[in-house]
Amino acid sequence: MLEVKDVHAGYGNLKILRGINMNVPTGGIVTLLGGNGTGKSTLLKAISGLIPLMQGDVFFNGVNISNMKPHQRMRLGLVQVTQAKEAYPAMTVEENLVLGAYTRRDREGTKADLEKVYEFFPVLRERRKQLSGTLSGGEVQMLVIGRGLMAAPKMLMLDEPSAALAPKVVLEIFANINRIAKSGVTILVVEQNVRMALILAQYGYIIRDGVIMMQGEADNLISDPAVKDSFLGGSVADTSKALRN
Ligand SMILES: Nc1ncnc2c1ncn2[C@@H]1O[C@H](COP(=O)(O)OP(=O)(O)OP(=O)(O)O)[C@@H](O)[C@H]1O
Ligand SMILES: [Mg+2]
Repeated sequence: MLEVKDVHAGYGNLKILRGINMNVPTGGIVTLLGGNGTGKSTLLKAISGLIPLMQGDVFFNGVNISNMKPHQRMRLGLVQVTQAKEAYPAMTVEENLVLGAYTRRDREGTKADLEKVYEFFPVLRERRKQLSGTLSGGEVQMLVIGRGLMAAPKMLMLDEPSAALAPKVVLEIFANINRIAKSGVTILVVEQNVRMALILAQYGYIIRDGVIMMQGEADNLISDPAVKDSFLGGSVADTSKALRN
């Protein structure tokens, strides 16, 4: 569904991504992992068109979208939920959701999708008249994913959906992402919660300093010693020692 070929991108003259190759097949969930500042959000922005490419190409369902504007990519079904979990605080939950459909013309389909979002996230239906500024962190996360769904994605890119949420809420969000994938939306998810992401996804990419340093089936990555050392944390004794240094 998505093919990223030798992508270089960054900000002004500053190059962050240095030759990224990536493939997201139709159906299922792919995760993009890596430490802070390694270029994960930059890669999502390059794919969704929020920043231009310096080199390379992005293909979506065989179409070269490298020079398309973000809203054109959205109309093709490539939708990103950005890392800043921004809902319009002075608007209601439902108004925020409807905004997600701004690139669409099909009123009936939009209405049906609103119903679908409420089925995925019943709490959003309960709170549809509530101002978004008064939602909990977990509810805002559900709202921004729901808003992404309102754009009728074929592929949904999520940037750290578990960030700053309690473990129980993370589990709920991930279960929902799994349900969304099962409903036929391909998912590319950026995560810091490496263990959970590798349990959720079928395939993973690990990025460091703007290059893909490792990739593979999620099951293989989760048991890989290098991944364990770098991302899955050492023993309590190791952590304790590091804390006291
Ligand atoms: N608008 C910007 N202008 C200049 N540099 C930027 C901009 N946005 C990000 N950067 C830099 O690009 C690098 C990669 O940032 P990016 O946001 O892609 O990291 P990330 O992997 O998503 O990290 P995190 O997990 O903390 O979100 C960082 O060094 C960051 O400071
Ligand atoms: Mg980021």
